Amino acid sequence: MDGNFLLYSVRMRAARGGAHEDGGEHISGAERLVPEAEAETAAAALIARALSRGVSPDFVRLTMERIELAELARVPALPLTTIHAGGPAEARLQAERLLREAGVSDPAITLAFESLQNGFGSERVVLRGAALVDPLTGERLDPLTARGVRATHFDYAPGARDAVAAHLAEQGLTHFRTLDALAVATKVLWSGVRAELCWSDEPEYIAGYVAAPICGYTRFPQFKPSGARGGRVFFVDRNQWETVRDRLERTPVWIDAGACLSDVSRPPRNVE
Ligand code: COA
Repeated sequence: MDGNFLLYSVRMRAARGGAHEDGGEHISGAERLVPEAEAETAAAALIARALSRGVSPDFVRLTMERIELAELARVPALPLTTIHAGGPAEARLQAERLLREAGVSDPAITLAFESLQNGFGSERVVLRGAALVDPLTGERLDPLTARGVRATHFDYAPGARDAVAAHLAEQGLTHFRTLDALAVATKVLWSGVRAELCWSDEPEYIAGYVAAPICGYTRFPQFKPSGARGGRVFFVDRNQWETVRDRLERTPVWIDAGACLSDVSRPPRNVE
C-alpha cells in the first residue's frame, strides 16, 4: 500500500422511535472498512441497507472514521461447514459436542442455551451485543447490563467479499446474513474467544452456528427453537476477558478469503 493510502471505518445504525441514545428501538446496523476511494459507495450502500428492512427508520446514524493502517490486522476467513441436523434438538446435541471439544464445560453450555432461549439474567433481556462467558463456570464476565460486547471495526478485504459470497452461493448460501455472520465469527475467534454460540434475534431466522478454532464456522440451518429470544455467547478465558473485549471492540480487521475458499469444500468431520 502506498503512503497516501487511507482506510476508513464506515458504520451505520438505524432505529425507530428516536435515536438509540434516546431509547429508540434498533432496526439494523452494518459496517465496512474501506479505502478512501470506496468510502462514498460504502456509505450509500449502508444507507440503502437501512432503508431496505421493510420498516422505515426514524433515525439513521452514519459514522465515518479514519483508521490507523498500522493497527490493521489481516485474518483468513474461517472455513465453513454446514450440519444438516434433523431439527433444533438434534442440532443442539451436535453443537454441544463441538463446544465441549472447544473446552466449554457442560454447566456453561447449559447456561448459555438457557440464556439464548429465555434471555439473559433475572430480567430475561436480549443483549445489544454478546455476553462474554467463562467457559468453565458459565458465569458472565462482562458487566451484567443489557449492553454486552459488540465485535466491530471489521470487514472483508478488497475482493474477498465477492470471492467469499460467490463461494457460499455455490453451496446455496445466498443470504447476506451468512456472509455477515462468517465475518463476525472470524473476527471474534481472532480476538481470542475460545468459542461462539449464536442464534439470531430475528424471530423468523432459525439458522445459527457454533464457531471455534477446532470446527471453524459450523452452521446449523435449523438451530433456533421456536419462541427462543436469540443472541450471542462468546466463551472467553476468565483471565483474558478484558484484553479480548478490547480487541473485539477496537482492533480493525480485514478478512481475507483464503481459508474459507480452500477448506470449505473439505468433507466435515463427524457430520452426517
Ligand atoms: N444492536 C442493538 N443496538 C445497537 C447495536 C446493535 N447491533 N449497535 C449499536 N446499537 C445502539 C446501542 O444503543 C449503542 O449503545 P450501547 O453502546 O450503550 O449499546 C448505540 O447504538 C451506539 O453504539 P455504537 O457502537 O457507538 O454504534 P456505531 O455507530 O459505532 O455502530 C454498528 C456500530 C451499528 C456498526 C455495530 O454495532 C453493528 O450493529 N454491526 C452489525 C453486526 C453486528 O451485529 N455485530 C455485533 C456482533 S456482536
